[in-house]
Amino acid sequence: MINLILFGPPGSGKGTQAARLTEKYDLLHISTGDLFRYEMGNNTPLGQEAKSYIEKGELVPDSVTIGMLRNKVEANPDVAGYIFDGFPRTVAQAEALDVLLGERKEEVTALLSLEVDDEEIVKRILERGKTSGRPDDNDESIIRNRIEVYNSETAPVFDYYDKKGKSQKIDGIGSIEEIFDRLCTAIDKEI
Ligand code: C5P
Ligand code: MG
Repeated sequence: MINLILFGPPGSGKGTQAARLTEKYDLLHISTGDLFRYEMGNNTPLGQEAKSYIEKGELVPDSVTIGMLRNKVEANPDVAGYIFDGFPRTVAQAEALDVLLGERKEEVTALLSLEVDDEEIVKRILERGKTSGRPDDNDESIIRNRIEVYNSETAPVFDYYDKKGKSQKIDGIGSIEEIFDRLCTAIDKEI
């Protein structure tokens, strides 16, 4: 199996690139942000709980996010691999992912981190907000909080996999095609 973590701050292009990578490598794209938005759209109890965090740009508690991720993986066992987008967001989530894959004698193949500076992120997310319909994309203070949460809670996940020799930084500035090529070059070295 190929199990990739597509990493990087909000607005770094994870979703855009994951959609292309899943096609090329025949993987299942799992975006926890998209799963939360689906639950919120259906006003489920999970969606209602997640909403209170997401609208502030905070992280949903690990137990909720890990449970949802596990359900999604277990519902799709017969795939060539996964691209995790927006997960893990904390070291506890990374440890839970390792346990989940370990139960199937699998492991994370690589973490690819899209590097984009803060001002570019704010600009990109505000632009995306014009059409995404996401309240958390339309308020600069929420966007800046998401970046802060990324730096404090999520960035350590890079180091966690770096210690295992699995983390790679990818320049996230350029055309979608250029960034896709950089990601493919990195992935092809790992498989
Ligand atoms: O990944 P994405 O940026 O779409 O996530 C949107 C929001 O969902 C995050 O800002 C956060 O509030 C929540 N989220 C989370 N934990 C994750 C993924 C998303 O709390 N692992
Ligand atoms: Mg996304």
